[in-house]
Amino acid sequence: MKTTSSVPLSRNEHLLRWVDKMAALCRPAAIHWVDGSQAEYEALCGQLVTAGTFTRLNQERWPGCYLARSDPGDVARVEDRTFICSHSREAAGPTNNWVNPYEMRRKLRELFSGCMAGRTMYVLPFSMGPVGSPMAQIGVELTDSPYVVVNMRIMARIGLPVFQEIDKKDRRVVPCLHSVGAPLAPGQADVAWPCNREKYIVHFPETREIWSYGSGYGGNALLGKKCFALRIASNMARDEGWMAEHMLILGVEDPRGEKTYVAAAFPSACGKTNFAMLIPPPPFQEKGWKVWTVGDDIAWIRPDAQGRLRAINPEAGFFGVAPGTSVRTNPNAMAALARNTIFTNVALTPEGGVWWEEMTPELPARLTDWQGKEWTPEIARATGAKAAHPNARFTAPASQCPTIDPAWEDPEGVPLSAIVFGGRRATTMPLVYQAFNWSSGVYMGATMGSEMTAAAAGTVGKVRRDPMAMLPFCGYHMGDYFRHWIGMQKRLTETPRIFHVNWFRKGPDGKFLWPGFGDNMRVLKWIVDRARGRALARETPIGWMPHYEDLDWTGMDFPREQFEALQHFDRALWRQEVIGHEELFLDLHSHLPKEMIYERELLICRM
Ligand code: GTP
Ligand code: SPV
Ligand code: MN
Repeated sequence: MKTTSSVPLSRNEHLLRWVDKMAALCRPAAIHWVDGSQAEYEALCGQLVTAGTFTRLNQERWPGCYLARSDPGDVARVEDRTFICSHSREAAGPTNNWVNPYEMRRKLRELFSGCMAGRTMYVLPFSMGPVGSPMAQIGVELTDSPYVVVNMRIMARIGLPVFQEIDKKDRRVVPCLHSVGAPLAPGQADVAWPCNREKYIVHFPETREIWSYGSGYGGNALLGKKCFALRIASNMARDEGWMAEHMLILGVEDPRGEKTYVAAAFPSACGKTNFAMLIPPPPFQEKGWKVWTVGDDIAWIRPDAQGRLRAINPEAGFFGVAPGTSVRTNPNAMAALARNTIFTNVALTPEGGVWWEEMTPELPARLTDWQGKEWTPEIARATGAKAAHPNARFTAPASQCPTIDPAWEDPEGVPLSAIVFGGRRATTMPLVYQAFNWSSGVYMGATMGSEMTAAAAGTVGKVRRDPMAMLPFCGYHMGDYFRHWIGMQKRLTETPRIFHVNWFRKGPDGKFLWPGFGDNMRVLKWIVDRARGRALARETPIGWMPHYEDLDWTGMDFPREQFEALQHFDRALWRQEVIGHEELFLDLHSHLPKEMIYERELLICRM
């Protein structure tokens, strides 16, 4: 390690005092102030290769790319180990794990005491949002994981410009402390992926602090992402009159050259990255339709001086699901991840490349799987072994996406015309429908359901209520969150139109009824046209739906009957659905805004 990196890169008194205090608690062997330079990045990657955490990929085929394999017990977010430690249990609400903050602080002091022994503590400043944007927020993550530092360099703006911002404005930053929880005794050899069986992902909403222990993976460890940009930011947003949402942002360019921006909330591993990078079918392209990408996971949304909602992507990279990503399903993601990308838990080819399920139509003859074991199609057939973990991810710079929107780093954000909610639902939910107005749209988002995926530990496939795709990410009482959504309308001169989509409805044969991916453009075009007041719809008990004729079917042979099946409103299933809504509402009862009750009554009346 260069000796210069131990010299503090900030003069901010609060920051320096906090770093000293945390170093005294964690007792690292060294402190490294992260400048964010390319040279530093390369040195850290080299160090990770030496440590066995990284494998450098074939640089001719995958320039600047690395593969990391995690511990098999540290592969996804751990929702049951995630805590919102507000002063009262009531403030966190029934959908969050809560522990008394005094008790939790005691526990954390115990856990973090000496936890960085034998390791370097990195002082990593990061800006969520373009540095200096009025919508940006700053954090500093202290971490003993160089893997976290190099991933954060792709996912956020880090280093010297952020220290300068902290010093210039003497700003308070969100303190984020992270440790893999694997101290090294003198002379003890390290493992490739240090972590601890005991995991704590802890948020203190009132003091805006994050403490994360025991995991090195994704949302557990890259603290700018879910912990800050959603759980802490949702608290800031409620207090300050803005919104922090689990949403992609895209821009639709129409044949007139006008752009309409849309944000969409889908739960984890339900298609945000795919939708954000959608490539329209050829006949749409020929007519002049194009989709531009602003972000694929998180949106910070704020009313501007004119009372219109504007959104920024607070991130700088994509931490995307690898399995299922291919030149067929998402060529833009494939281009974005072709260089300067960190892969985690995908398979390694004998040529030093990467592979994951559905990356290519034909299976490779031989691979090293995500756990470092031999993999062949024969082994896979016999044992069901996956080459890549279902939650294997790529960390790729957003700037490398061919459809990245020219305005993606606009400090003022992009104007939002529509908000889309969507889940993974085999039955009940139509391909697309539009809410009657803002409050029925908030109800639509609040009662969203989705089948669980591999993005979090739990039962894959079970339908759970996931309001606004924020169930694991809302840092306070979900009932108060609905109230905040309802209240936003008063700050707006124009509300975005609200829609619900479902790409995942299945027929009696168990197959998807809708081809999805690029063909989702047909739905997106209707959404944009509705938002601009140039498409028709019919009224149904649940909202506005397109007639068959209202979607553009050019270049696609999709029979009317199949569309009717996709859109079908099944009274018996909706009865079950509304009972599901009520179950959620019973849990949230003491904080539920009355608008939710009224909307539910209206829905039942219409049914
Ligand atoms: P997080 O990064 O976890 O927040 O998730 P995400 O919403 O960005 O997930 P992503 O876009 O990576 O979702 C990937 C999964 O959705 C894969 O299993 C895809 O095959 C599937 N998927 C995406 N779009 C479609 C679609 O239009 N139709 C179908 N059937 N599957 C889709
Ligand atoms: C998600 O699970 O919604 C993600 C991945 O976007 S992680 O950053 O691990 O939370
Ligand atoms: Mn996500």
